[in-house]
Amino acid sequence: MSTTILTTQDLSRAFGGVLAVNLVNLEVRDKMVQSVIGPNGAGKTTLINVITGRLAASGGKVLYLEKDITSRAVHHRVKMGISRTFQITSIFMGLSVWENVRIAVQSHLGGSLRILSARPSLGSVNDKTEAILKRVGLYKLAERPANLLAHGDQRVLEVAISLASDPKVLFLDEPAAGMSPAETDQVSELIADLGTEMAVVLVEHDMEVVMKISHHIIVLHQGGVIARGTPREIASNQEVKDAYLGGDDWAPLSNV
Ligand SMILES: Nc1ncnc2c1ncn2[C@@H]1O[C@H](COP(=O)(O)OP(=O)(O)OP(=O)(O)O)[C@@H](O)[C@H]1O
Ligand SMILES: [Mg+2]
Repeated sequence: MSTTILTTQDLSRAFGGVLAVNLVNLEVRDKMVQSVIGPNGAGKTTLINVITGRLAASGGKVLYLEKDITSRAVHHRVKMGISRTFQITSIFMGLSVWENVRIAVQSHLGGSLRILSARPSLGSVNDKTEAILKRVGLYKLAERPANLLAHGDQRVLEVAISLASDPKVLFLDEPAAGMSPAETDQVSELIADLGTEMAVVLVEHDMEVVMKISHHIIVLHQGGVIARGTPREIASNQEVKDAYLGGDDWAPLSNV
């Protein structure tokens, strides 16, 4: 079994009377892809927002490497190794692919230096930017302005930016949304590959992607966990089929 990187204990978040996240217990392990699935409004994005610190928890705890980080600021969590992408693309459209990643790398390297006057060397920033772009397959498009990229490449650029902070755990919020089948295959491969190196938590509606690359799946419904297990276990779970997967004759299940 791989090491546990992050856990949540009875994590909750309310909006007025709505419990968007309700007593969720998660265990995120190293070198695994764990997916969080569930219908629209189930609380998936809210769960990521609370774990990564964008939203405060209403109850419960987030433990990272056994440390209670429930009240830590976002930038502390990023520095500790918790990174994420957004459901809505958040790249700088007017800048090139290279600049988007370079700025993220520079801000991470700069932010981790103790001496205020010290700057990360240009060479180290460039080397890291290049390595990340090669890893995600965007190096050949480095000079292109982000707004001229295909939609799929924009989503991949967002993953590249999230890698600049050397995450130990990476949360991906619907990375394949709006992608063509070819783009979806490419991003699935990238996510599976990242999952050999770090803990990956994937929120995704494309069940073929989820069933193919997840080691473990959590199903959220109305803020609470209604099932957890392997892709095979989830695909055959009647409550999950009824709540989310669209009944017994649901197509992607036939491949699991
Ligand atoms: N900032 C907010 N203020 C009030 N209610 C919110 C807010 N963010 C989310 N909610 C509510 O919390 C619930 C969970 O929303 P959330 O966006 O987490 O769902 P989701 O599972 O990510 O859905 P989707 O699959 O559509 O992205 C919904 O009822 C939503 O309306
Ligand atoms: Mg969402």
